[in-house]
Amino acid sequence: MSAREPAAATGLDEFAALVRGIAPGSPRSGPAPARLPVCRFWPAALEAASRAVAAPLAAALAPLMPALAWTQNPNYRRQPPEPTFLDRYGYSVIAGPPDGPPALARAPALALGVLLLGPRTHYPRHAHPAVEVYYTLTDGEWWRDEGPWRPQPPGTAIVHAPHVRHAMRAGDAPLLAVYLWRGDLATHARLTS
Ligand SMILES: [Fe+2]
Repeated sequence: MSAREPAAATGLDEFAALVRGIAPGSPRSGPAPARLPVCRFWPAALEAASRAVAAPLAAALAPLMPALAWTQNPNYRRQPPEPTFLDRYGYSVIAGPPDGPPALARAPALALGVLLLGPRTHYPRHAHPAVEVYYTLTDGEWWRDEGPWRPQPPGTAIVHAPHVRHAMRAGDAPLLAVYLWRGDLATHARLTS
């Protein structure tokens, strides 16, 4: 599905409106939200997203950035797929269960967040039991099941069924995508062969 299709564009507008609705009702207090090295790519990623079909969603995400807490899969922190990966990868939960990473809004049955990869970063094959829908905000290459790698423009919805192997990689610019998980939210992704 592409957001260039009218139905998908309508869905995107509704999605963006929902994301905009999160910010006003979620004031944060206490310590500043966690940042990661990958956050240095946020401005470039958001700027690229703002020039593409996903601009409404990018505009909805922009004001959330000061409140976003960034985190990394503990499986990768223990055993990075390659030495520079943790310097160039991170995600932030916008809405998620209370026992998960810090989120702007609580949602017991789903997780909604953003994934950010630095330029030329390869997030290798991995899998998890949750059902996942990604919505791309920038260009990137995506791989699923048996492949092949496919370039996916901004505004593409990508669905990963439970336990399906998948991977993504950024080109010369950062890769930014919104993700949605449902099902087993507690089991982190693991790298696969
Ligand atoms: Fe995934």
